[in-house]
Amino acid sequence: MSARPVEDETSSDLRPVTVPRFVAAKQSGRKLSVLTAYDFLWAGLLDAAGVDAILVGDSLGMVVQGKATTLPVTLDEIIYHGEMVVRGVKRALVIVDMPFMTFQISPQQAVENAGAIIKRTGAGAVKLEAGVHQAATIAALSAADIPVMAHVGLKPQSVLKLGGYKIQRDAERLLADARAAEGAGAFAIVLECIPRSIARTITSELSIPTIGIGAGPDCDGQVLVTQDMLGLTSGFRPKFVKAFANLAEQARRAVQQYTAEVRNGAFPDGAHSHD
Ligand code: KIV
Repeated sequence: MSARPVEDETSSDLRPVTVPRFVAAKQSGRKLSVLTAYDFLWAGLLDAAGVDAILVGDSLGMVVQGKATTLPVTLDEIIYHGEMVVRGVKRALVIVDMPFMTFQISPQQAVENAGAIIKRTGAGAVKLEAGVHQAATIAALSAADIPVMAHVGLKPQSVLKLGGYKIQRDAERLLADARAAEGAGAFAIVLECIPRSIARTITSELSIPTIGIGAGPDCDGQVLVTQDMLGLTSGFRPKFVKAFANLAEQARRAVQQYTAEVRNGAFPDGAHSHD
């Protein structure tokens, strides 16, 4: 019998999820659960519920700040939210998005900004919307020992060029982007809004985990915006978003009851008052 501890990749495993453990999940065939968080409270809740990784996505521009796109999010804002998330997490790998124009100018700019994200938030990795065209940037970050999650397919930071949030179907280009990201040193890759058959091909070709959002069931893991999957956001819901709860409705009812009880004097009652 070996005296050495054996890596146990079960969801009851309470050890912190490091980048190597995240990558090893692909080899052991264990699917990875990833969700977004932007603050201490939600990060703690997701972490306690057992997700493998928490993404501090630049989607905070739309979900938290109410802006029309993710483009205005700044480096300081993502760092501010990243710090809050890291404080709430004991186990999950925290990955922080690099906002628009914080990595596109040059690999040097990307290393400086990713370095600031890692140093100031304490996160375990950064994510950037990058494929073939940013391979040199991924390589520079990797050479600086900053773990990089790449993001190909629908890249929301390219919304102006794309003219909207559209399903990406160019299989050759998507495969080239994914291969370039892996070749440059990315440890994982998000596949957003691509046909499931292309996601299946990319997943079988790459040795790093693929994390799908609107990319079908054959990816190595899945990511969703937490507020979407909990039914907290309103308006257009893309086909790939499953509502696992309807928290907006529950919250609305609770607030209505609170307001009614304040107005009719039922709250606070004796049980909620000091003698
Ligand atoms: O910004 C974000 O939240 C993302 C995920 C939805 C993949 O990039």
